[in-house]
Amino acid sequence: MKELLSAQNIDYQERAREVAEKYVRPRAAELDETGEYGWDILEKLKEYELTGVWIPEEFGGKGSGVLDMCLIVEQLSRACGGVGVAYAVNALGSFPIVLGGTQEQKERYLPAIASGEQLIAFGLSEKASGSDAGSLRTTAIKDGDDYVLNGEKKWNTNGGVASVFTIYALTEPDRGMRGISPFIVERETPGFTVGKREDTLGIRTVSVNELEFEDCRVPATQLLGGKERGGFRNAMMTLDRARPGVAAQALGLAQGAFEWALRYTSERRQFGQTVMSHQAIQFMLADMATQVEAARQMVYTAARVIDSGSKNVNKIAAMAKVFATDTAMRVTTDAVQLFGGYGYCRDYPIEKYMRDAKITQIYEGTNQVQRLVIGRSLTRELKELTGHLDVTIEHFPEVEDS
Ligand code: CAA
Repeated sequence: MKELLSAQNIDYQERAREVAEKYVRPRAAELDETGEYGWDILEKLKEYELTGVWIPEEFGGKGSGVLDMCLIVEQLSRACGGVGVAYAVNALGSFPIVLGGTQEQKERYLPAIASGEQLIAFGLSEKASGSDAGSLRTTAIKDGDDYVLNGEKKWNTNGGVASVFTIYALTEPDRGMRGISPFIVERETPGFTVGKREDTLGIRTVSVNELEFEDCRVPATQLLGGKERGGFRNAMMTLDRARPGVAAQALGLAQGAFEWALRYTSERRQFGQTVMSHQAIQFMLADMATQVEAARQMVYTAARVIDSGSKNVNKIAAMAKVFATDTAMRVTTDAVQLFGGYGYCRDYPIEKYMRDAKITQIYEGTNQVQRLVIGRSLTRELKELTGHLDVTIEHFPEVEDS
């Protein structure tokens, strides 16, 4: 629904669509097969001035916000979910610096990310701390003018290609999550190794790696914001702003799979007519289209709330992530169903959508964690949500025990 978008939004959407159709779609199957990173696509994103648009102008970006980022991710993901996240994860990696970096740190790191010269990744999760992010164990102990990092990180999307990493570590291990501080770590830092690459079900063009820190010494200037503590809050605020990006990836995947299903069912004939003209199939397509449109409105709304500068973005970001990613899983699975046996084969483009969609329900906080976030918000807002209802339990009819 272009009517609801600004001229700037449409401009980004159209440029991203052109990159997706001309350069991403023809490469999607090959990138999936080989697991190569789409360096040629990154060059096109630079040429079309689509990299790092969320970074403030003062630091070389376009200052364009989360909605424009989501519109770009959606278009890229329509053609390839892996390319969509390869782009979006740079927002996840750089939001900690945008939100909490010192002026010097922003000047040093953000321009190269904005221009696409450098890629960045976000290091929070560990083998034993995924959903329970606050229980991470990597340490960063002050030693003179340096911090010495020891530990490991897991599920680092972009790990294989990033030059810069935002890393969360305990500067005061006995304070638990309150002792977490964020750091900026450069790839070439001695003692830092990008380890094992995961063999993933989908988004195979993106390298997801383990990270290892062994007496990795970084100068104190790499402590994000120049102050210890506050790392957990920085990570949570980052995720609040990045989750709509995952939701946009899911939205693009759902839209892309739906378009293929529409096209296929309008051409494939069974029982003397197109598959689409069977009412059972029309109903499926109608549900898919409705769900995709509902997800779109939710994602755009969450992005707009964030761009408005509201501090209260936690719940809406989680809702958009849950809704869009559950929609993507349903719609891509239905799309495979509509392709019948062909949908199950790699000769056809559709099964990849389903494989790519699955991770959106898992990363950047599982959908169970999102529901926890929404539920906690509801508990906090209980008074506000129900205060006008003058109802107490005595007003409800009593049910007599039989
Ligand atoms: N904004 C600001 N502060 C927040 C916050 C938010 N959204 N959420 C929590 N906090 C603050 C709280 O106010 C609290 O502060 P005080 O200590 O001052 O009171 C503190 O953080 C602790 O909050 P909780 O008690 O709510 O913490 P919790 O341990 O119960 O955890 C959680 C809450 C929501 C489950 C959180 O751990 C979470 O989001 N987990 C999922 C982590 C996640 O998304 N990981 C994915 C990483 S990225 C990835 O997937 C890989 C990739 O590369 C794509």
